[in-house]
Amino acid sequence: MSLAKIFDQYPDRRYIMFGGKGGLGKTTFSAATSYYLAKKGKKVLVFSVDPQASLTDIFQRDIFGKGPTEIIPNLYAQEIDADHRVKEYQQEIRQKILDMYGMEQIPEEIESYIQAAAAEPAMEESAIFDEVVDIVVKGGFDYYVYDLVPLGHALYYLSMASVYDAWIGKITGLRQQMREYDQVAAVIQREKELDEDAILNELLYIKDRINKSSGILTDKAKTAFFFVVTAEEMVIKDTVKAAELFAKFDVPLSGYIINRVIPSELKEQSIPEYLKNRILMQEHYLGVIEKEFQGQILASVPEMQRDVTGLDMIDKMARAMFGDF
Ligand SMILES: Nc1ncnc2c1ncn2[C@@H]1O[C@H](COP(=O)(O)OP(=O)(O)O)[C@@H](O)[C@H]1O
Ligand SMILES: [Mg+2]
Repeated sequence: MSLAKIFDQYPDRRYIMFGGKGGLGKTTFSAATSYYLAKKGKKVLVFSVDPQASLTDIFQRDIFGKGPTEIIPNLYAQEIDADHRVKEYQQEIRQKILDMYGMEQIPEEIESYIQAAAAEPAMEESAIFDEVVDIVVKGGFDYYVYDLVPLGHALYYLSMASVYDAWIGKITGLRQQMREYDQVAAVIQREKELDEDAILNELLYIKDRINKSSGILTDKAKTAFFFVVTAEEMVIKDTVKAAELFAKFDVPLSGYIINRVIPSELKEQSIPEYLKNRILMQEHYLGVIEKEFQGQILASVPEMQRDVTGLDMIDKMARAMFGDF
């Protein structure tokens, strides 16, 4: 089975993800796959859920926080501005407090709490997740390619149950906060009860959104998840572990792509001992990969002469992954 065939054979798998440790080539493969699909006439959105996003670098276009930006016909790229979203959350919370208590201004201690909460990593992740849900629920593209964060974090997005819990925590936390504040500032309109209905409605709304997006992520018919590996011991070990974990979360795995393979023909040429050793080591670990992921390897991509940035290199990479098109 090849990568191109998988896409041909499963046209309903419209949510595409590449998983793997940092630096293995997830962003590169996301960009090249999107490019390939766009060239085949599909309307594609590749978006980054990585706070250290690098779609801007690979496409050599400043797209950060600008929404879906057209790169070539049919190919749109988006980098999520999590900070902006967190600021919106903060404003939302301030507004809620002002409305509920009929205040003119947020008291200092509450403001410092709001500031502290925004600095928590969970807040950023939740903001990114929220934006992803927006993107997916909104629709309008044939394919969605997720430029994922490294493995551990990717699990966060994929195990939606925990995300849902985080959301409930956020809302009940807000409720708790209100109550505490109520006690502290007894002077202020005590009779104004929390609008329980509004909170419940918000909770149900969020639940519905999460069900929609997690339904997509764990749906074998709609999702293709690929692991990126390289011929190195630690990477292989981590990947095996991660695959087991993903199986537990019922994330459907489509297969493995080997990246950065040094062409073994080089061996026949007069090359330094150093490079010869690298190739020998690689051959060993390619054997291990073959054994571990038997029958699930979809492509083997060579180490290129230079890093992959700009459309010319992306085109080269797409051809290395999918063959000529
Ligand atoms: N096959 C390859 N040949 C040469 N450079 C590569 C190759 N694959 C990835 N790279 C480079 O490696 C670096 C890390 O790749 P990237 O896709 O950003 O990894 P990740 O998103 O998994 O962290 C980038 O500079 C990229 O251009
Ligand atoms: Mg990346």
